[in-house]
Amino acid sequence: MKALVYAANGRPSLEERPKPIILKPTDAIVKMVKTTICGTDLHIFKGDVATCATGRVVGHEGIAIVEQVGDNVSLFKPGDKVIVACITSCTTCSNCRRGMPSHCSDGGWVLGNTADGTQAEYTRVPHADGSLHHAVKGASDDAQLMLSDTVPTGYECGVVQGKVKLGSTVAIVGSGPVGLGALVTSQLCSPLQIIMIDLNEKRLSTARSLGATHAVVSGSNVVEQVMQLTAGRGVDTVIEAVGIPATFELCQKLVAVGGTIANMGVHGTKVDLHMETLWDKNITITTRLVDASSTAMLIKLVESSKLQLEKFVTHHFAFNDIEKVYDIFGAAEAHNCLKVVIEF
Ligand SMILES: NC(=O)c1ccc[n+]([C@@H]2O[C@H](COP(=O)([O-])OP(=O)(O)OC[C@H]3O[C@@H](n4cnc5c(N)ncnc54)[C@H](O)[C@@H]3O)[C@@H](O)[C@H]2O)c1
Ligand SMILES: [Zn+2]
Ligand SMILES: [Zn+2]
Repeated sequence: MKALVYAANGRPSLEERPKPIILKPTDAIVKMVKTTICGTDLHIFKGDVATCATGRVVGHEGIAIVEQVGDNVSLFKPGDKVIVACITSCTTCSNCRRGMPSHCSDGGWVLGNTADGTQAEYTRVPHADGSLHHAVKGASDDAQLMLSDTVPTGYECGVVQGKVKLGSTVAIVGSGPVGLGALVTSQLCSPLQIIMIDLNEKRLSTARSLGATHAVVSGSNVVEQVMQLTAGRGVDTVIEAVGIPATFELCQKLVAVGGTIANMGVHGTKVDLHMETLWDKNITITTRLVDASSTAMLIKLVESSKLQLEKFVTHHFAFNDIEKVYDIFGAAEAHNCLKVVIEF
């Protein structure tokens, strides 16, 4: 089969690999129908993700058809159409049982990180019962592909951790797919304001069309603009959706007294924490690796059209072109690219 590999030279490389086989009775082998590239995949190719070694087949998102299941898989059978969650959950270890499968003792972020992932014609999904979801007929495949990672991350790491509430104020730094995932799911909590901040005007206009009340171009006076919009208070919830020191420091300048900074970005370097200005502000800072524990609920919202995710997808490509797609996704601004759907 063909698979996209994190090559030794640090580049994405489409290579021939053996088709995966069942290794444990809890595994499923799935035939990929659609996959996509995540900002985190770009972090892998930048060398930011120490756990992902070269030679790895990357990708942790996908819609697939179950091809074969191990003897202990009870919820799925060959022929089922499934959403592959980016997090593998055994469902029984202590972290899974306390709702934190991101730190499952035999799972977590495995696919496209410590085991071969979904940017391949076939994928082995460990702990299939806890890591796959049945796709629904009432929503498009493209919308459901956003539920592997992008939208659960925005919701769990941004909205839930950030404690977005009725009538509160929210700023989201980074209007990429994950930031937009936080934007669309924040609205389910009816905050008063959602201020999107990005360098890219096109992404900000998408954010406006998805319900942002304000959009601010990140620049020298961004703090001033947010203070003007919030009567000098700052915002109750600041969601970091980029993953670089500059944006985490910006979040510290935007948070209101009593507020929360919810970090979503994958960071490859240390960042400064300005305790000299924050020590008396009664704030909370949260970090989280997505658990994909909200996926079943989000599927229902998408199925009932309470969440519209079609606007996240800007491009469709064939899997054979995936090396080129990395160039396009890597220069997303030049190509007005948000989420790409790669079809097999
Ligand atoms: N915590 C998790 O479990 C988890 C899961 C998935 C993704 N992520 C991470 O979330 C982050 C966002 O993912 P994405 O796919 O949306 O990435 P992305 O690269 O598509 O989006 C990042 C956005 O930030 C903007 N940006 C860059 N510098 C900026 C600045 N100085 N000020 C304001 N905006 C700036 C870019 O223009 C872009 O629109 C990434 O770091 C990704 O690795 C985390
Ligand atoms: Zn991801
Ligand atoms: Zn577990």
